[in-house]
Amino acid sequence: MASASAESAASLKGSCKECQNGEAGHMATFKASDTVVELSPTHKAKPDESELVFGKFFTDHMLTIEWTKAGGWQHPRIGPMHQLSFHPGCSALHYAIQLFEGLKAYWGQDGQVRLFRPMLNMKRMAVSAKRACLPSFDCEELLECIRKLVKIDQDWVPRSDSASLYIRPTFIGTESSLGVKKPTSALLFVILSPVGSYFSTGIKPVSLWADTKYVRAWKGGTGDCKLGGNYGATIYAQYEAADLGCQQVLWLYGDDLQITEVGTMNIFIYWTNEDGEEELATPPLDGLILPGITRQSILELSQKWEEFKVSERCITMADLLRALKENRVKEIFGSGTACVVSPVGRILYQGENLLIPCKEDFPPLASRLVKELTDIQYGRTPSAWSFLL
Ligand SMILES: Cc1ncc(COP(=O)(O)O)c(C=O)c1O
Repeated sequence: MASASAESAASLKGSCKECQNGEAGHMATFKASDTVVELSPTHKAKPDESELVFGKFFTDHMLTIEWTKAGGWQHPRIGPMHQLSFHPGCSALHYAIQLFEGLKAYWGQDGQVRLFRPMLNMKRMAVSAKRACLPSFDCEELLECIRKLVKIDQDWVPRSDSASLYIRPTFIGTESSLGVKKPTSALLFVILSPVGSYFSTGIKPVSLWADTKYVRAWKGGTGDCKLGGNYGATIYAQYEAADLGCQQVLWLYGDDLQITEVGTMNIFIYWTNEDGEEELATPPLDGLILPGITRQSILELSQKWEEFKVSERCITMADLLRALKENRVKEIFGSGTACVVSPVGRILYQGENLLIPCKEDFPPLASRLVKELTDIQYGRTPSAWSFLL
């Protein structure tokens, strides 16, 4: 059986460089052991699992941790889910000083609740916090606070093996000042939402709109961090894609039309490459790409198989067009916490529909990856990637 937090504790204790971005001279963090818990006197009715829509239902409790420049981190509080109240000059509202994370808790058939590689989310959150000029915190302490919160609301973790409890850590600047500067007060909070299967309406390969009209991320920008502004700014393009009959945007970058991400997922291309090698390729973490936890897990799993070449490398639209013309593309899929893997069936590019081989709705490599990853997430395969509650 996997140890409670093999990955987080053994490999990261005392060595999490993402945590070390505080002001010199003091370890600026809160401690999970200081958490003040106030249980909700009432409990909401839980939705039927068949009704679960992403992000619509919330559990009974939430975690809040306040910070001020003058007073540092306050004690973490777990209490009833409640409305937040801010000054209208709050920096999160004016300058999008805000970031978030997304991970899930899974109910296993053995009755155990597991998180999947949650320390990677904590570390990514610490990197986002640094970029957003929000204060540093200790990743292990935050994970322990989240563990306490999920444990309190664990009856909300859906029992079916395609549903889960989505965990949304969020961190915002709360200073009531219109100055464009580092906030002197901030709030870190975590809310929980039971979610159903991403594929509840059936597994259908997605269609993509590839165009240079809108850009998601750029060199020196914030595309590699999970800042809310990155997402709000993409909704307009998403609707234009829908008007053109496509479900998601294939984000391109640069004069050579590098393929970067798909919607809010990382992208993988499985093909016979230009040198005749069987290869699974995904764009490199060059500042444009969000370092997805699913992406990293797919790379690590497939490297371990040693069955084909696994690469992080730049792929352009010209590379893809040539490979499609020469029938070298086997599968294209997006990856992310929401769906694990989502196959791509069609790309609309310069008015032409490029059909991606997808004979079965879920092609073989995508299926194998979904199975291996969900077996770990739902505890069917013991793994050091599982973090037991
Ligand atoms: C832009 C973007 N890319 C990729 C991902 C996939 O990341 P993960 O696998 O950690 O969910 C996400 C989801 O968080 C995302 O928002």
